[in-house]
Amino acid sequence: MSAAADISLPPGPRNPKRVNAALFLAARNRAFHRWHQQYGDIFFVDIAGFGPAVSIRGAELHRKVFTAKGNILHAGDNALGRTLGEGSIFSMDEEEHLAERRKLLPPFHGERMRSYENLVEFEANREMDSWPSNEPFPTIKSFNRVTLRIILRAVFGAEGRELSQLEEIIPPITRYGQMRVASERLMRDYGRHSPGGRGEALMARFHEIIRNLIDKHLSDPDLEERIDILALMLNTDLKEGRAVDYQATGEELMTILVAGHETTASSLAWTIERVTRHPEVLDRLTVDARTDESEYRLAVINEVLRIRPVIGMTGRSVFAENFELDGWKLPAGTRVICNIRETNMDSNAHPEADHFNPDRYLGKKPDTYSWIPFGGGMRRCLGAAFAQMEMDIVLRTLLRRFDLAATNRLAEGEKFKGLAYAPSKGAVAMVRPRQEADTGNTRTPVQAAAI
Ligand code: HEM
Repeated sequence: MSAAADISLPPGPRNPKRVNAALFLAARNRAFHRWHQQYGDIFFVDIAGFGPAVSIRGAELHRKVFTAKGNILHAGDNALGRTLGEGSIFSMDEEEHLAERRKLLPPFHGERMRSYENLVEFEANREMDSWPSNEPFPTIKSFNRVTLRIILRAVFGAEGRELSQLEEIIPPITRYGQMRVASERLMRDYGRHSPGGRGEALMARFHEIIRNLIDKHLSDPDLEERIDILALMLNTDLKEGRAVDYQATGEELMTILVAGHETTASSLAWTIERVTRHPEVLDRLTVDARTDESEYRLAVINEVLRIRPVIGMTGRSVFAENFELDGWKLPAGTRVICNIRETNMDSNAHPEADHFNPDRYLGKKPDTYSWIPFGGGMRRCLGAAFAQMEMDIVLRTLLRRFDLAATNRLAEGEKFKGLAYAPSKGAVAMVRPRQEADTGNTRTPVQAAAI
């Protein structure tokens, strides 16, 4: 029997590819929600510029996809990986990907995250020093600044001159990167005055700063004692007798920054947006924040990540041979869209799924295949523990320092920011400082230098 006869695809929308592409670009969440309602947990859709794809919903299909071998489903062929470069884990597959994960996993291990808590608290306090009192303001800009500084310090180990240089150059690079991911063709380097050319110049400058940073690390006699993630990566290279690859290390640092900055900031913004609209949750959180209790806060964070996932979809693509899924036989080249949002909102796994209810995670860990804000399997988010720790400490710092006002304003809609979905008004909040004696504000210069 020929390979073609072995292929079978699930039903799906029969629109022309270009119409599907327009829907994908303009309103992908709404379109995919409608299609899942119409066709069930799996449907086929052909999208111009993206290719033939199936979208999947629910724990069972995700278990199958997330546990498939790395030589059957690839993930490395994507616009983000191509934009970030060959040194980025996003552009790797199979052995190369596994080796990179082996190198990056230990620094991101859950237990290690405790060593960054003081830094996160310090940076949160530093940002909150300038928050207005009794005046509504969008919190997301603050969260973006905090999460950027935390990554630059905890991951890059940047301080002083390199820290200021990176803080200045990252926002324009992010804008260039977002445009490139949206349209690779438009953003090619057509000369130094073209948008692509300017982007390439920014990237060259970024790599120059990283080269200085790596050289500084390598000449640090205390390199082995350093706890920033760049130092841990360099120590692994040195221990395993590998020459340090400056370009690839820079690309991986940029990858971690892209993956971890806007996502965590937007998730923090959604936390504020959700809890200010649920006074009973806010009250309980506020009481707990002023004690050592963290179980309820972690349950709130898990529920926010479920009901407002900032990455709506992730993907794989069938490599080399047909892949059997739910009785269908998907040919090589088919994209598999893991629909995070639809799975998190699946009422079979989450009763009253559209009800914000942190209690569902009290005394209970979220399920691996029906709660998937961090994706799953061997490509599951490497920074999940980092992001949860960061959200926990920023939220605790905020509630120790301020009274956060509840609101009866309508829920904020969502806005796509290039990589993540954020609250459309930036998570507007109003705070009032608490009495200094109650704040538990533990900021000290020693903690500022903790990393
Ligand atoms: C709330 C915040 C975050 C969310 C919602 C999030 C979500 C995700 C998702 C959905 C994926 C794709 C997983 C898959 O395809 O199965 C991913 C991958 C990744 N994330 Fe995160 N992320 C967050 C924060 C972070 C942070 C803080 C870091 C690092 C500091 C990070 C580093 C990475 C890396 C390196 C990958 C690629 C893993 C691989 O390909 O093997 N993320 N993330």
